[in-house]
Amino acid sequence: MKFFIDTANLDQIKEAQDLGILDGVTTNPSLMAKEGIKGEENIKNHYKTICEIVDGDVSAEVISTDLEGMIKEGEALAALHPQITIKVPVIKEGIKAIKYFSDKGLKTNCTLVFSVGQALLAAKAGATYVSPFIGRLDDISTDGVELISQIVEMYNYYGYKTQVLAASIRHTQHIVQCAEVGADVVTAPLNAILGLLKHPLTDNGLEKFLADYHKLNG
Ligand code: E4P
Repeated sequence: MKFFIDTANLDQIKEAQDLGILDGVTTNPSLMAKEGIKGEENIKNHYKTICEIVDGDVSAEVISTDLEGMIKEGEALAALHPQITIKVPVIKEGIKAIKYFSDKGLKTNCTLVFSVGQALLAAKAGATYVSPFIGRLDDISTDGVELISQIVEMYNYYGYKTQVLAASIRHTQHIVQCAEVGADVVTAPLNAILGLLKHPLTDNGLEKFLADYHKLNG
């Protein structure tokens, strides 16, 4: 399973990259706004900086909702760096845009996915990634991890190459659950990724090993 970090914060991206397990980054307009990145040039430069920090794919989202605008924006984003993946919402014009980008060999991430039907259209259009938002489904008493499982099963059945990118991860257990149902990628905040390391028996065991060593070796 690939690990992406879901942030536009450069320090957190560097920390995850230094861990040696990072496969990519996802951003969205809200995450860019959270870092105070505004203005077309600043936004583009920020994407380029992220691409220089990490080795893998970096999702950059279009703002347009019409086909012409999405194509113009998406092509400009893709021209910034070979690692850029054009993030497109799963609306009618978005599906057309994904098909267009896919035919041109450009990578896409179909975002704001909340149903198997939307994921089916994303795969038919040739999306590189599909992003079901599991936390936002959990927020409305719907099982987000179950949706990941259903999409993985459907893609496997038909042999679709689109990678299931579990998004809107809220906590560490979401990552574990997505791994258990076969998500290809999980994009998560840094604290959820670091949470995977936590176990009191690891801490206690290490403390005892070090204490025993120092008893004899000073
Ligand atoms: C990732 O691609 C999404 O933009 C992100 O995971 C959304 O997460 P949220 O529901 O916590 O805003």
